[in-house]
Amino acid sequence: MHLGPELSPLERQEIEAECAHYPERRAAAIEGLKVVQKHRGWVSDGSLQALAELLQMPVGELEGVATFYNLIFRQPVGRHVILLCDSVCCWIKGRDDLNRRLCQRLGIKPGETSADGQFTLLPTVCLGDCDRAPTLMIDHQQHGNLTPEKIDRLLDQLQAPGGEDG
Ligand code: FES
Repeated sequence: MHLGPELSPLERQEIEAECAHYPERRAAAIEGLKVVQKHRGWVSDGSLQALAELLQMPVGELEGVATFYNLIFRQPVGRHVILLCDSVCCWIKGRDDLNRRLCQRLGIKPGETSADGQFTLLPTVCLGDCDRAPTLMIDHQQHGNLTPEKIDRLLDQLQAPGGEDG
């Protein structure tokens, strides 16, 4: 993984390809942030600055976009990111029980990353899947109608040797 704040040639190439879809470069802000996150796992201040320069927009404006869009991570995250819905439907259907089980299994609190660097647990607003509440998203895949037992099975799969790649 490229660790310096400057964007790699591949990142630049992918971001330029996104810019080509829009009349203004800054319109590719979200796609640009996604490209950076895909390559680095998260978006550091340095990367944000470099991306703002490439998109020819003020860094403060780009930061606003990154903050608004809750799937862009501004701090390092684990290999697997678990987004647990904490909006009303999921709350009524027992998301707190899921939260307890996740914290117990991973030895962390919401917002933290497990000691082995494998999992980050983040609360999130409605994932748009209320019919299947309570829900969560792991590595961009949504899971619904969850119970603590289903959480165990999901984590067992991810923690198994040779389990799903992130
Ligand atoms: S409230 Fe949880 S998915 Fe909508």
